[in-house]
Amino acid sequence: MGMHLAGKKIILGICGSIAAYKAASLVRLFIKGGAQVHVLMTPAATKFISPLTLSTLSKNPVHTSVVDDDSWNNHVELGLWADFMVVAPATATTLAKMRLGLCDNIIVATYLSAKCPVYFAPAMDLDMWKHPSTQENIQKLQSYGNKMIPVGHGELASGLVGEGRMAEPEDIFNFVSGATEKSFFTGKNVLITAGPTYEAIDPVRFIGNRSTGKMGLEIALSFAKKGAKVTLILGPSVLDVDHPNIKLIRVQSAADMAKHAVRSYKKAHITVMAAAVADYTPKTVAKQKIKKKGGALKIELERTQDIAAKLGTLKSKKQFNVGFALETNNEAASAKGKLVKKNFDMIVLNSLKDKGAGFAHDTNKVTIFDSKGKTHKFKLKSKKEVANDIVQLVEQLMSAKK
Ligand code: CTP
Repeated sequence: MGMHLAGKKIILGICGSIAAYKAASLVRLFIKGGAQVHVLMTPAATKFISPLTLSTLSKNPVHTSVVDDDSWNNHVELGLWADFMVVAPATATTLAKMRLGLCDNIIVATYLSAKCPVYFAPAMDLDMWKHPSTQENIQKLQSYGNKMIPVGHGELASGLVGEGRMAEPEDIFNFVSGATEKSFFTGKNVLITAGPTYEAIDPVRFIGNRSTGKMGLEIALSFAKKGAKVTLILGPSVLDVDHPNIKLIRVQSAADMAKHAVRSYKKAHITVMAAAVADYTPKTVAKQKIKKKGGALKIELERTQDIAAKLGTLKSKKQFNVGFALETNNEAASAKGKLVKKNFDMIVLNSLKDKGAGFAHDTNKVTIFDSKGKTHKFKLKSKKEVANDIVQLVEQLMSAKK
């Protein structure tokens, strides 16, 4: 057990609970498993177990505040250094602070800076555990992608018997090492196009569309968090991403996007074409700003390259292509037509008829058609959740394909 923790970098945050004494065993298990460990403590935690014990076991200095002896502890650097962060024991107070981003100790400061998966092992008394405030905080933290290590049932420090005991160190260790096992997407390259394109008319004007890039960005993040290496080709969007597994390429026009997509395609195992690519572009771009004159202005447009169709012709047996369709009428038939025409393995249909779906909304409602003829319907959800559904279905269909 635990071999896959070898070489992993772990931040362990210890809060002020009687269960803090068990953190010493947890550090030993991590170190024995071959991991590197940095321990952070809240001031209250130091009343239950000494930093000296933990620095000795972890072989690293222990930080108990953002500033120690006039020197600033770089929680941002620590947050970036870690492969994952474990908060154990996680008290009701620290969970509440993490939920709200109340950053008055080094654990919450590091949590807010961390880009890695975060686990928390709650420890508290029965009634504190059951309280709706605590439960709501936990649900919120889980909705941000943090993972809870379930509490145990048994005798509590108060003498009461019930739920709220911190999981045993062995259980925490197994939970974390199990979850870091290779996922389906580890080692897979994912190519994603997202956002609008801008087709220049002259040096100041362009033809664009209302796409924000949000859906594609959430899909990129979802793949990245599952261990895939993502290349995200993003048209002009105000949004930004920052994840160690995402390489961001910013482009302007359909032609730019096509160039980069074709270049990256060969290495891609999975390609998701979420961009709203312009179908037409001005035939010529005026060198100078066009002056107004009497009468109508005519701008001649020509077809852009269809990136999805192009990649469809290059597709090998091992590659999996996902397309998007945004339709206003005859939706299912049009989407299925595109699935065939562009050689997609699945197509995600957004219907503009659905309230809250599509451009500039935080929510989306999709129906997915796969190349085996199956239809997968989903409810109105946040774009983050829709992204997770899409990624999950890709895994399912690719696993079935083999
Ligand atoms: N797409 C693309 N390059 C283009 C146009 C579209 O890669 N130049 C991709 C989109 O990213 C999307 C899919 O093709 O995944 C469907 O886009 P859509 O514009 O609906 O396709 P068209 O066939 O152009 O649709 P229509 O016939 O309705 O104009």
